[in-house]
Amino acid sequence: MMNIAVFASGTGSNFDAIMRAVEAGDLDVNVALLVCDKIGAPVIEKAQNYQVDTVVFTPKLYGNKAAYEHALLKDCESRNIDLIVLAGYMRLIGPTLLKPFEKRIINIHPSLLPAFPGKDAIGQAFQSKVKVTGVTVHFVDEGMDTGPIIDQEAVRIEDGDTEEDVQTKIQCVEHELYPRVIQSLLVKEESTK
Ligand code: GRF
Repeated sequence: MMNIAVFASGTGSNFDAIMRAVEAGDLDVNVALLVCDKIGAPVIEKAQNYQVDTVVFTPKLYGNKAAYEHALLKDCESRNIDLIVLAGYMRLIGPTLLKPFEKRIINIHPSLLPAFPGKDAIGQAFQSKVKVTGVTVHFVDEGMDTGPIIDQEAVRIEDGDTEEDVQTKIQCVEHELYPRVIQSLLVKEESTK
C-alpha cells in the first residue's frame, strides 16, 4: 500500500477528510506521517487522535529552508513515503524536497487556478465579484500555486452569499475532491507498473 505524508499548518479539515476516506475504505493509502510547521496547530491533535506519526518543526530554529527540508526529507525517506500531500501547508516547497519527490507532491488550492493564487483565495474571489470559483488540485513546482493541474471543481457564488457561505461550499468540495484525486493517482500508478 502507498505511504503518504500530509503537510499542514492549520486546522486540518482536509487532513481529517483524508483520514475519514481511509477509514471508510474509499482511499487505499497508509497515512504514515503528518508534518506541521506550527506548534499548537489544531491539525496536530487531529493526527494524534488518529494515531498518525507526527513531526512538528519550527523553521526558525534551522539556518535556512534547505536545512529543515533536508530533515523533512529524512523523515519521509525513513517512512518510505511515496506521495506528499499538502493540505494548508503555508510554505513554498524548495528544491531539497522537490527534486527527490518530483511529480510526487500535490497541493489543494481554494480557487480555479490560475485565478486567485496565493493567500486568501476565497476572499480574493469574493471581492472580485466573480460568479464561479472553485477548487484545484495540482502537482507542486517551485512556484506559488503554479504546477500542472490534476483536477478542478467549480463552486458557484450566488447573489446574497457571504464570504463565509462561499468558504463553507469550497470546504465541502475540497473534502470530497482531495481524497478522490489521491485515489485516482494510485490507480494510475498501479496501471503503469
Ligand atoms: C484549504 O482551503 C486549502 O485549499 C488551502 O488551505 C486550506 C486548509 O484548510 N490550501 P484545512 O487546514 O485543511 O482546514
